[in-house]
Amino acid sequence: MTQPAQINRDRPQMLTIFETAGEAAYAVADHVLATVKSNPNAILGLATGQTPRQVYARLIEAVRDGAVTFRQATTFNLDEYCGLPPSHPDSFAAFMRRELFDGADFTSDRVNLIAGDATDYHAEADRYADLLHSSDGIDLQLLGLGTNGHIGFNEPGSEQDSRLRVVNLSAETIEANRPSLLELATVPPHAITMGISDILNSREIIMLATGASKAQAVCRSLEGPASADCPASYLSRHPNVHWYLDIGAASSLRANGRRKI
Ligand code: GLP
Repeated sequence: MTQPAQINRDRPQMLTIFETAGEAAYAVADHVLATVKSNPNAILGLATGQTPRQVYARLIEAVRDGAVTFRQATTFNLDEYCGLPPSHPDSFAAFMRRELFDGADFTSDRVNLIAGDATDYHAEADRYADLLHSSDGIDLQLLGLGTNGHIGFNEPGSEQDSRLRVVNLSAETIEANRPSLLELATVPPHAITMGISDILNSREIIMLATGASKAQAVCRSLEGPASADCPASYLSRHPNVHWYLDIGAASSLRANGRRKI
């Protein structure tokens, strides 16, 4: 069931709450598939993290079943750690290959990634920004949510007009992402990320958040004021955002918590 989130905010955002994280991920995959089927040339904004892994697994299944092709689609990833070459297993480039690109049928020169091993990170951010801004713009941006309310690597303090840039990661994010590392002992302290304004320029945005560890950030994003303290709260300034949550992630919402769908 889909409903507008109850918020004292600029615009209602669509919100669907699912019993399980798997169901939420499947619904997001179906949303992506519908977008690409209706527009095979779609430009997709992609996220990393544990949350979208089941989405990507489902997209791979759809390609293998012949239900969709991504050959004409273009992708832009949201962010990348500074200092890691694409071959490093902890780079987001390697994550994307493992979780999606190697199993699906994307065309390699339509896949855009940030080079984490660039010699000049600021120049790399500028290069990627030029590439993004010279494209037709992202049709569908997939987002996950940091426990501190970050989107991409826009940490608390990131303003609505922030652009693609080099950022310092917060202590909370460094701690939160550590368990996902495959080889490194600690999370790199710097990253390159699309800014909030780049994300808000997308024509449509999907936010997928699952698990009780995200409940506070979900609540602050949907029920609090739009503010740099919780960057995901700026999604309320976009006209076409759909939040997909499981019961755990929705559990702190005043209006919608614990609803069974
Ligand atoms: C990472 C990424 C975000 C992601 C978030 C949540 O730091 N930069 O794009 O959405 O953290 O990650 P997870 O899905 O593993 O909880």
